[in-house]
Amino acid sequence: MAKAAKSQFVCQSCGAVSSRWSGKCVSCGDWNTIVEEAAEVAPPGSGLARASKGRVLKLESLAGVSKEAPRFSTGMPELDRVTGGGIVPGSVLLIAGEPGIGKSTLLLQLAAALGRAGRRAIYFSGEEAAAQVRLRAARLGLGDAPVALAAETSLTNILATLAEEKRADLVVIDSIQTLWSDALEAAPGSVSQVRAATQSLVRYAKSAGCALLLVGHVTKDGQIAGPKAVEHVVDTVLSFEGDRGHTYRILRATKNRFGATDEIGVFEMAETGLREVANPSELFLGERDANAPGTAVFAGMEGTRPILVEMQALVAPSGLGVPRRAVVGWEQSRLAMLIAVLEARCGVSFAHHDVYLNVAGGLRIVEPAADLAAAAALLASLANRTLSPKLIHFGEISLSGAVRASPHMGLRLKEAAKLGFTEAVIPAGGEIPKEFNGKGAKLALRRISHLKDLAAGLGPCD
Ligand code: TYD
Ligand code: MG
Repeated sequence: MAKAAKSQFVCQSCGAVSSRWSGKCVSCGDWNTIVEEAAEVAPPGSGLARASKGRVLKLESLAGVSKEAPRFSTGMPELDRVTGGGIVPGSVLLIAGEPGIGKSTLLLQLAAALGRAGRRAIYFSGEEAAAQVRLRAARLGLGDAPVALAAETSLTNILATLAEEKRADLVVIDSIQTLWSDALEAAPGSVSQVRAATQSLVRYAKSAGCALLLVGHVTKDGQIAGPKAVEHVVDTVLSFEGDRGHTYRILRATKNRFGATDEIGVFEMAETGLREVANPSELFLGERDANAPGTAVFAGMEGTRPILVEMQALVAPSGLGVPRRAVVGWEQSRLAMLIAVLEARCGVSFAHHDVYLNVAGGLRIVEPAADLAAAAALLASLANRTLSPKLIHFGEISLSGAVRASPHMGLRLKEAAKLGFTEAVIPAGGEIPKEFNGKGAKLALRRISHLKDLAAGLGPCD
């Protein structure tokens, strides 16, 4: 017979449940995250013994023509791009981001755009009073948009309100961490509350066929606050990122059941809300100081869209026993690898230098193709040289120092040519379109197969 436990101890970071309190969660290793909560008691008689009474399912075949999921456009092309072509009715999206990044602004603009397009949009604000939301809408020039608004944190009230709705197309919950249900004893924002609220809302969205957008907070290390279970039950997780010192904001899908996850949406936070940026390269290169030593332009790809961005390096003599390596917008381990390869394969030493690497504009690069641009910036800074302002780089570097071909080489070159670049250092391997080959091509290409070839043109190895 199962013991009816009165309370359980739940880690607020990962959702792991244990029967005793401890200072450190054994599952995720975080400290001081375990909180006592009332146990969710399973209904009596539940268990495998009753499974034999289940209904026999009619199994279907995988084959058969199934249409693409129907979608509606959000009226915001950047948001359409990230979601894979629009929002699927009945789907649940979680928008996660740091406080003040612009989640409420984005969702209010979205609700207003859909309202104006004749759809029924309902906005539940758990963080701001209705008057505050109205004030923001007025400031954004959306005061006249037909959006239904309620300031509410009670899950029961929200579900009751939604049950009365005949035709809701979009429901926004800002935020999931503020909701609470009186059926649970745990505090709002705790794992049990967040999980319960998400599950009830997802059930509503699926049965009513209405799209649901949940705002989720992130913890200080960038994880979505609350149990991982929330990320599992939603269809799409969008993370809204950006550096508060910059006006650019990037919307990135980290999970998407209805589309690819490699597309990004680029926005700029302006006086009148978020403005969509259709041509991000121009934005990221806009503030460039082409005469600064130690900078190189990387022709990158975000999904199907090429994006040119500047990589800045500062290599300075170090007074420290262990020199400092710091990186913003790129992976620390990738920088360490690159420095090791430069030292081992090209004989360039950074042992007595501090190295700083920064991706301009607050963009975060994950592509390995950025290796070559980063290497060029590092070498140029070490030699205190300025690279040609009309030069771009891309290519992945392996541990042997070999430069590997990158995907979409043609698209990267086309974007560079469009923006007035005239030279490119790119991998020797890989196909490129005919227009970039031979005399009279728009870009003068230097195709290299080893990192040594790059270093040879840049000082230390001369
Ligand atoms: P907000 O949407 O409230 O962020 P979140 O919901 O993610 O916490 O955005 C708040 C920030 O955006 C705030 O610091 C001010 C800035 N902002 C603008 O610059 N322009 C605007 O038109 C609006 C509405 C906000
Ligand atoms: Mg907000």
